[in-house]
Amino acid sequence: MKVMKLMQRASSLRIYEDGDFRRKDCYQTCGFTLEIGVNSHSGLGFGSTVWEAARGLCQYFEKEGIRFSDKKVIELGAGTGIVSILVALLGGDVTITDQPELLNGIERNVSFNIPSSFKPQVKVRALRWGLDNTLFPSDYDYILCSDIMYFDDSIPSILETLLHLSNERTIVYFASTMSYGQNMTREGHVTLSHYFQTELVCRYDVEDVNIYRMRLNTPTAGQLLNS
Ligand SMILES: C[S@@+](CC[C@H](N)C(=O)[O-])C[C@H]1O[C@@H](n2cnc3c(N)ncnc32)[C@H](O)[C@@H]1O
Repeated sequence: MKVMKLMQRASSLRIYEDGDFRRKDCYQTCGFTLEIGVNSHSGLGFGSTVWEAARGLCQYFEKEGIRFSDKKVIELGAGTGIVSILVALLGGDVTITDQPELLNGIERNVSFNIPSSFKPQVKVRALRWGLDNTLFPSDYDYILCSDIMYFDDSIPSILETLLHLSNERTIVYFASTMSYGQNMTREGHVTLSHYFQTELVCRYDVEDVNIYRMRLNTPTAGQLLNS
């Protein structure tokens, strides 16, 4: 069986005297070269570098030739913003979200990569799972998540956020490195599968990255009767 290889960075440039970033890493995907500022010593936690699942999602979009023209997209826990930046370049109208302290880095990465003519398509907003959900609508075509489920206690708030943002037409692409957080990630996906029809659409064996496509379960007849 062919082992699929994950997108690797094409080059890396050391940056000096920059309060946000220590390096700019370049990735080539879908015909674009993405320049992503990273800083694993920023004190801002896990969101300051590009994680395996983010690379997996970018590569999956390239492999499948997925385009997002005129689609309304939101990403949760975007980190550096690499996935959303690619999706904006692929035509999506994107809301990039993370915790407030990550937004400045995301804004800068957007400015490195998105031409000013595309800027109206890109919003960068704070969305803390379970806290800020209701500030956002429920009419997204796509919700994107990569490597956000690795703590036990985040699973209920991620689920609550996904349920708020989704409607029956929304497609969720959820990429996870399955071995993170002991069995947490695997258990989290089992929990989500009680609420979403879940299909494993891609796997990168070496890095243990799974990509799931999910859609909200339509209510069963029993649930409708009880509501
Ligand atoms: C492991 S990083 C993954 C970043 C990016 N998606 C990637 O794959 O490169 C997890 C991200 O989730 C964000 N995050 C963690 N807890 C969060 C919360 N309660 N609400 C919103 N974002 C959160 C972190 O700030 C971080 O950017």
